[in-house]
Order: sequence, then structure tokens, then C-alpha cells
Amino acid sequence: PVSILELSTGYHFRPPKNWINDPNAPLYYKGWYHLFYQYNPKGAVWGNIVWAHSVSRDLINWVALETAISPSIESDKYGCWSGSATILPDGTPAIMYTGISRPDINYEVQNMAFPKNSSDPLLREWVKPGHNPVIVPEGGINATQFRDPTTAWYADGHWRILVGALSGASRGVAYVYRSRDFRRWTRVRKPLHSAPTGMWECPDFYPVTVDGRQSGVDTSVVSSPRVKHVLKNSLDLRRYDYYTVGTYDRVRERYVPDNPAGDEHHLRYDYGNFYASKTFYDPAKRRRILWGWANESDTAVDDVAKGWAGIQAIPRKVWLDPSGRQLMQWPVEEVEALRGENPVGLKDRVVKRGEHVEVTGLQSAQADVEVSFELPSLEGAETLDPALANDAQKLCGVKGADVEGGVGPFGLWVLASSKLEERTAVFFRVFKAARNINSTKPVVLMCSDPTKASLNTNLYHPTFAGWVDTDIRKGKISLRSLIDRSVVESFGAGGRTCILSRVYPSLAIGKNAHLHVFNNGKADIKVSQLTAWEMKKPALMNGA
Ligand code: FRU
Repeated sequence: PVSILELSTGYHFRPPKNWINDPNAPLYYKGWYHLFYQYNPKGAVWGNIVWAHSVSRDLINWVALETAISPSIESDKYGCWSGSATILPDGTPAIMYTGISRPDINYEVQNMAFPKNSSDPLLREWVKPGHNPVIVPEGGINATQFRDPTTAWYADGHWRILVGALSGASRGVAYVYRSRDFRRWTRVRKPLHSAPTGMWECPDFYPVTVDGRQSGVDTSVVSSPRVKHVLKNSLDLRRYDYYTVGTYDRVRERYVPDNPAGDEHHLRYDYGNFYASKTFYDPAKRRRILWGWANESDTAVDDVAKGWAGIQAIPRKVWLDPSGRQLMQWPVEEVEALRGENPVGLKDRVVKRGEHVEVTGLQSAQADVEVSFELPSLEGAETLDPALANDAQKLCGVKGADVEGGVGPFGLWVLASSKLEERTAVFFRVFKAARNINSTKPVVLMCSDPTKASLNTNLYHPTFAGWVDTDIRKGKISLRSLIDRSVVESFGAGGRTCILSRVYPSLAIGKNAHLHVFNNGKADIKVSQLTAWEMKKPALMNGA
């Protein structure tokens, strides 16, 4: 049906056809951004995995090149799984990736590949040296749970990488391998870090500066300028990425999270559909950029009908918040080039209890919306039920967008049908901290509630939510949503809390998609400023 095709994203990275998953080996080389990704050349479901390859000048327009890495040697014959790139001192990139080397089980080894011709800025052809595999699962490692090598970092005469693993039944582990020559790798006996979370897929480990500036640093910067480290892992069991901020001791090859409970209370890049992410350092604009995969949450039948499945989130700049407690994220500035010429907006508009205000004058199925709210009073905020204080998602499930509160829920209805039967709500709700939460600071919840997103009932539509670490007593909070037909990618409070949702409306499609500000709290709120742009399609999107 037409509606499925109308839901094909306009400006999010996607393939012209077939299945994609993890972003692999993002890098910048001779003026081009490269993105490789897990790809099934034969269909819109996972399988037959190779590395597809696209290049871009601006992170927005993408040209698909020929497959970069596909099964061709003993040690990757049954699959070329995720991996990363490292820029070597002579400026050329090297890729390390996981190969599946047996037909009967997912026996995982680590391989290398190099550009055939490093003077080609497009790095079209990749060759695998004869000494593959370079790392095999030895010393009691579970060979079927041993994958996804990171970008290497260099210090004190050694290269290091991490490989994600599972130890015993439930311990997620990041093993360190070291090399002097980027060829022979030996494991450091004790892992960099581990936690009882289940398998760690796609680890990522990188420095962030503590100066509060938004610039990034190369992965090999280990101590100066003053840095903290971030360790991210993708939880296979729970299908989300979590990270901690901490200290890397390169002599002992150990990492210690600043927050001792960090491996329990998961800080996430994104509280929605965002997995197997990976960062890279962009030397052209001195920033660190995060790529993450957003799976479909439509039915497999619809995936096959539209012929493709999976997108990459808009690349995000990441940096350490001045508090040192968490990362900040913001869509790369290049995406703003897609904004149409005639934004529409609201200014100093009070939205009363139960009121909603439509933002008209644009086609909002493909849009970028920025809004700042003012909260005149927090007096009426609800008390936070201590039983739900640890579980944002559950809380948001109980207190969805239509459940009246004190201060909030207020926010946006996006991809709304004309009679509002369909709408995805992205919103905030403020709570007075309960006495046993040890703080008088009000608590802010951010939610993306898709329970009314579609009249189709056979869809996976969980409510997503995260806390926003902001001092709401100042009476201000902002929200940005990148809307793209079947994606709503939202950034709360300038990028403190992010939520990506996939939704599949049946009515709120194309010209029939509407945008509103709503307030289902008892207290009035004010939109101090709202600006909404239609988003153009990039001229080039992998031929799609
Ligand atoms: C994560 C993952 C990786 C693996 C790849 C296979 O989504 O399972 O651990 O390398 O996908 O496609």
C-alpha cells in the first residue's frame, strides 16, 4: 500500500533497499566522511552480512559505493560483522572487524582490512592481509560471544583495542588487546572493565575533555588536555546502549566509572530506539560524532513490502557536560542546511490547562522543530511516587501524555492526524521530589509516547522515557524534534536527554500530518519561542 512507502524516511541515512544494522568504522579521510554498515545484500531481514559503504562531503548527502568487505577468506567466510577504523600515524585508515569462521556456530575471530589504494579518497577497495585472523578466542573466552573491535588508541609504545565479550552466563566484558606493530595482538589478562549486564556488544571507548567545551579529541589522547573517558556498551539482552563516564588508567589498563552505581543505573545516549552506536573523531571540525542504528518497529511483512529496513539516526555531536556527570548530544550542524526557507512559529504564547495550539503553515511530516518553554510556577507539581522513581519508562507508561498532571505533561504532538486520532506525544512532566529521594530539586521526566501514533494495532509501540538532569527551578526547558515520516528524534534540554521513536501512522501522512503544542497539566505554561522548518530531502541518499 501507498502508506508504507510514504513512511520511508526523507533525510535520515538509509539504504535504497534491504536490511541494515550497526554503523561500522565511521571515519573522515581526505575531505570525505565514510560510513560502513552491516548490510544484507539479499533482503529486508537480517542475514548474509557484509559491509556496505557510503561516502559524504557533509554527513547529509550520501553516495553508496560498492560493498567494502564481504566474506572471502577462511576467517570471515560466514559473515563480516561489526568493527571500527583507526587512522594510523601515516594518515591511512585500518579496519578491524569480526569474522564468522564456522558454518555451524557463530565462531568469532577478529580480522583486519586495509585500503588497496590509499590515494583514493573514496577508499573503494579494501584488502585483507594474509595474517588474518589477528585475534582468536583463546584462554577460556566464549567464542560465540566475542566481537566488535573498537577504534585503537596509542600510548606508551602500544596500540590498544577493546573487544566485547560475555564471561560466564551473564558478565559483560571489554577485553583489552595490545600491539606494538598493529599486527600481532596480545590480550591483557584482566579486562578493562566488566559488569553483570549480559553480553557487551559494540563497545566504544573514547576521551572527552573536561573543559566544558563542545570540541572533541582524537581517541589516542589519553591525558592531556585533561580528559575523562567514556565507556559505552550495547546490551544484547535489553537492546539499548548505556555508558559511564570515568577514569582510564593506562598503566594498569583499567577503567573505573566515576559513579560506582553507573553500571547499574544506566545512563543512555538515547532512551528510545537507538543501538550498536559508535563515535569517531572528526578532525575537519574538531568534534566527536556519534552514529547509532534505529531499527524498524513495524512488522517484518511491512519491511519486506517497502523493501528496506533500518536507518541511522542523524549523526550527533557529543561532548561532556560541564557537570562531568553526563554527555550532551546535538544533531550535527550540517542538518540545518536542509531547513526550508520559510519557518513558522509561535512567540510568547501561553498554553493553558488542557489546551493545544496547532502550528500551521508547514508540512510537518518532514520537519525540524525547536521550542523553548517557560514554566511560570512549579507550585502545582505532582509528588513523585518513590516506587516509580527509579523507572522512568514505567512512570511514563503509567502517566502518559493524556494523564493530567500538575506541571505537565506539556510538549509537542507530532505526526498528528487532522482529528487527532493519531499523534505521537513528546513531552515533559515535572515532579516534586519525594522526601526520601534526598533532594529538594524537582525532577523532570521526558517521554515519547507513541501509544496513539497509529490506528494500526499490530505495531510495537512502547513508551520511551528518561530523566532530564536540569535545574527546572529556573523555569525553562527546551525541546527539539527532528520529524521524518516514520522517525521522531527528540533532544530535551539542549541534548541532555534524547529519545528516538519509530512510528507508523496510517492517517498522519504527507500533507495530512499536523503539529501541535499541548498542555495536559493544571498549570499554564508559556511557549517563549517555537520555530518549525520543513525539511528538504537531501539531493543524494544512497540512490533511494
Ligand atoms: C549488534 C550486532 C553486533 C554484531 C552485528 C552482526 O547489533 O549483533 O554485535 O557484530 O550486530 O550483524
